[in-house]
Amino acid sequence: MSTRRQAIPVALALAAAAALPAQAQGSGQINVICSVQAEWCNMIQTVFARSTGIRINMSLKGSGEALAQLIAERANPKTDVWFGGTGDPHLQAAEQGLTLEYKSASLPQLHAWAQQQAQQSGYKTVGIYSGPLGFGYNTELVAKKKMPIPQSWADLLKPVYKGEIQVANPASSGTSYTMIATLVQLMGEDKAFDYLKQLHRNIQTYTRSGTGPIKAVARGETTVSISFVHDGPGEAMQGFPVATITPSEGTGAEIGSMSIIKGARNLENARRFYEWALTASAQELGAAAKQFQVPSNKAAKVDPHVPDFKKIKFINYDYAKYGASAERKRLIARWEKDVNALPR
Ligand code: F6P
Repeated sequence: MSTRRQAIPVALALAAAAALPAQAQGSGQINVICSVQAEWCNMIQTVFARSTGIRINMSLKGSGEALAQLIAERANPKTDVWFGGTGDPHLQAAEQGLTLEYKSASLPQLHAWAQQQAQQSGYKTVGIYSGPLGFGYNTELVAKKKMPIPQSWADLLKPVYKGEIQVANPASSGTSYTMIATLVQLMGEDKAFDYLKQLHRNIQTYTRSGTGPIKAVARGETTVSISFVHDGPGEAMQGFPVATITPSEGTGAEIGSMSIIKGARNLENARRFYEWALTASAQELGAAAKQFQVPSNKAAKVDPHVPDFKKIKFINYDYAKYGASAERKRLIARWEKDVNALPR
């Protein structure tokens, strides 16, 4: 999609919002943790405020960090809504009673996977987007270093990639936890941990945020990343030499989610935001901010840069099992002990 085509929905959204007498629409504020990339969070903040008169105090956090904050502030919640981030920690937040049951009348407008995320959590979260896990690579660096483009999980273990791969730390990043859960489902747990130990030798850096590695690839700071593939085109559109691929053995997908926090101080505004965020036009802001997940509202336009799910080999990801608190805690602790503690 050209820059011109992208500019249209934002311009329209802003123009429509500007036409509304903001203060007449509503008032007050809302505290949102936003776990997508900054450009999308900023756009949400602007468009929602202009169309409702409600100010968003936005705090940007990775999925694991967001969950940690909600656990820490459970006795005295300061957050009203958690927008975005991988679905597993949202399911955990639901299981731990950190989020509020809320059944939106718009649920039937959403894809089955998004509705399933809601049902599974007792309506304490809902799917807002989805996207596949894969690899990013710097097209210029692979050519310069005469490296093959990695086609499979197995390829990433090859000595040619030593010190050339970045992935995030699963304690802070939902992207990285999705990788561990995907490998465990693909290979069985012990084999997956053997794999992660071998992969560790080739890792240059474990970043805090899940989008850090593809940004490092784009800027030539590393050659390969393990990333959500929907985060690739936005970097390429900025002119960086980056491309993505999904592994031939199969991969997992996230169900990016949204939850209202139990004890939210601005509950009415939180519900208003939640309903707004489920509309097709609000979900189209993602692509307008050059973030190319599949929107959960069936009526939202699917940008041509959104990865084509039909061309990707997926595992049958068990969201309930890997979204359970005990399972996530156990797998991350095992990764810390068996993998991250090893020298590189
Ligand atoms: O585009 C941002 C994104 O890839 C989302 O699709 C995803 O939910 C989020 O980042 C995960 O971030 P992190 O790995 O830092 O939790």
